[in-house]
Amino acid sequence: MRHDLRINLERLSAKLDALGDIGAIEGGGVSRLAFTEADRAGRDQVVEWMRMLGLSIEIDAIGNVVATRAGRSAGPGIMIGSHIDTVRTGGRYDGNLGVLAGLEVVERLNEEGIETDRSLAVAFFSNEEGARFAPDMMGSMVHQGHFGLEEMLQTVGIDGETVGAALDSIGYRGAAPCPAPSPAAYLELHIEQGPVLENEGITIGAVTGVQGISWTELTFTGQSNHAGTTPMRLRRDAGFAAGRMTAYVRQLTETIGGTQVGTVGSVNLEPNLVNVIARKATMTVDLRNTSEDDLQRAEGEMLDFAHRLAKDEHLELTHRRLARFKPVEFDPGLIDAVAVHARALGYSVTALPSGAGHDAQAFAPNCPTGMIFVPSAGGISHNVAEHTEIADIEAGANVLLNLAADLAG
Ligand code: GLV
Ligand code: MN
Ligand code: MN
Repeated sequence: MRHDLRINLERLSAKLDALGDIGAIEGGGVSRLAFTEADRAGRDQVVEWMRMLGLSIEIDAIGNVVATRAGRSAGPGIMIGSHIDTVRTGGRYDGNLGVLAGLEVVERLNEEGIETDRSLAVAFFSNEEGARFAPDMMGSMVHQGHFGLEEMLQTVGIDGETVGAALDSIGYRGAAPCPAPSPAAYLELHIEQGPVLENEGITIGAVTGVQGISWTELTFTGQSNHAGTTPMRLRRDAGFAAGRMTAYVRQLTETIGGTQVGTVGSVNLEPNLVNVIARKATMTVDLRNTSEDDLQRAEGEMLDFAHRLAKDEHLELTHRRLARFKPVEFDPGLIDAVAVHARALGYSVTALPSGAGHDAQAFAPNCPTGMIFVPSAGGISHNVAEHTEIADIEAGANVLLNLAADLAG
């Protein structure tokens, strides 16, 4: 087992800063929603770095970019991947760290003159966030054959544009085959995006899997009317339903208990005016659980409540599923290998599941897949204040480097 290699932290850190400056927003954060001009600029930068490393670059029909360092033998290689799109108010590390650490792995192997038996690819996948176009993990799920390409290209985003049109507008609809064969193994380094590692004072997380994710859009439709003249009992108030529903989601997480979490992250009222009863409320519900049974129960109870509420308030209800992922477990051998490499490098390590979705989910059913977590300061992510200490970035990237070199042979 290798534990002699070390990444160049200054170089990795400079790349994180340079990519973080593209689409930079106030407070030190980044806004590079999928397939926007900022996403294009970020992609162009990373592709240029891939070229400078002498990698052979392929872009597929959903805009995934895979850059490969050849190995001595043909056949499936090792892939290091993540994403460089962000939520609208994102941080500098979510996704970006995994991709740029992958490039650092390649650069160190180049510098050391290390040839590997298997090829080593570094990939960034389109629209991992799903914040503009649901579902999330879109590019990696198409890459691994879980979602249909054509259906995804026709997905309409929050601004009315389709994935296909947006992809064309940034010039990233490529010709490489998609879906594509699975690698021999898939690795992803990511910030934890939660508080566990920091609270426990541990540097490396050996990720055991990802909890199930369910996104639903609910639309309540009633009638606009005058806020002053309409008696309460005669209202068909979609705004009231949105409020009740939001409170119910919190209550539901308490009823289900365990690892159940629930979020109403988006509510749109129409016409959204001070003195007009809302005619329409469009809202999202994000439910997650490590247990598929409990997640199904939460989904069922949430929809039952929404239907009862609509009936009681004389509203129409429509709902549609925006995303659904079952809980995923990672490869026991790779979970173990992450822990063994971390310890050999002198870092503390613990096993933990992921609360956030990751591209690794797309690979886990198809090939041995593993993830490495590093701590998030204050457990904060999807926030401009997202931060990971430089020493932790170094530790995570060193684990990735030695593990990838081992796997590639
Ligand atoms: C994706 O990043 C998610 O977990 O929402
Ligand atoms: Mn991410
Ligand atoms: Mn994210």
